[in-house]
Amino acid sequence: MENLLSIKDLTQAQFFELIELAQTIKNNPKDYNQVLAGQSIVTIYEKPSLRTRLSFDIGINKLGGHAVYIDQQNGAMGKRESVADFAKNISVWADCIVARTFAHSTIEELAANAKVPVVNSLSDLYHPCQGMADFLTLSEKFDDLSKVSLAYVGDGNNVTHSLMYAAAQAGCTMKVVCPKGHFPDAEITNEAQAIATKNGGSIELSTDLAVLNGVDAIYTDTWISMGDSTKLEDIAAKFMPYQVNQQLMDTTGAKYFMHCAPAHLEEEVTAQVFNGEQSLVLNQAENRMHAQNAILVKLLGNK
Ligand code: CP
Ligand code: NVA
Repeated sequence: MENLLSIKDLTQAQFFELIELAQTIKNNPKDYNQVLAGQSIVTIYEKPSLRTRLSFDIGINKLGGHAVYIDQQNGAMGKRESVADFAKNISVWADCIVARTFAHSTIEELAANAKVPVVNSLSDLYHPCQGMADFLTLSEKFDDLSKVSLAYVGDGNNVTHSLMYAAAQAGCTMKVVCPKGHFPDAEITNEAQAIATKNGGSIELSTDLAVLNGVDAIYTDTWISMGDSTKLEDIAAKFMPYQVNQQLMDTTGAKYFMHCAPAHLEEEVTAQVFNGEQSLVLNQAENRMHAQNAILVKLLGNK
């Protein structure tokens, strides 16, 4: 593993190894508290963040490393200097770059020019750290990930893409239910479906909520992602039938609710479900740190 730009770049063995390592680090934090001693990790943010910023910063500290936060006030990438020069300069001091960018191509450019590993902490196309944390969370609730039936309901977006790749790696069953015109990217879907088939799983797309009957968990995300200028009033009526509410949880029989957060309560999910007993949202948030620490240990641990 040289970088983590997308879950699709992992082999199935690497995917399961990361989930296992994350659980081991979570259970035995003291054994890992010097793994990144003397190493500095630069975290770049073009977009706001709570969970990602704090889980990386605190997580790196728990591994004995040093996190350096750079926002975009101190020279936006590609403006004060090129993305390539950003990557080359950071590489002379730091041991790793974690980047949250608008365009996925910016992360690819950082990786192409950096001499150190690059981790994608959200782009317009993917959110791999989230997907790994979500599957760590599912692995704590289900003994065999390949038997899990996961549903994603709402806007087909960066989170959906990474969840589809994670589901494909795990060989589980995934149903993606979106309003017409809001499905995940077709090429990414085809690729994820091919990986799923190879691993004995399946990814089914539909506009029909009836396909959700019998799923184990329902996942949703905001209808409008960061960087998308769509106005809520233009899409709310189309998305409202896809809101995750208690009625949907009850009729489908889903045991768990999942959301990467932040949520827009009473839009994609009701407060009752988001804050209810079936909700795994805080488990997911906690597991961001453990999943990311496994990624960092894998990328930097042997230095
Ligand atoms: N889920 C997630 O990435 O949250 P933040 O945007 O707060 O980092
Ligand atoms: N799809 C959302 C996820 C936020 C963590 C976004 O990109 O804004």
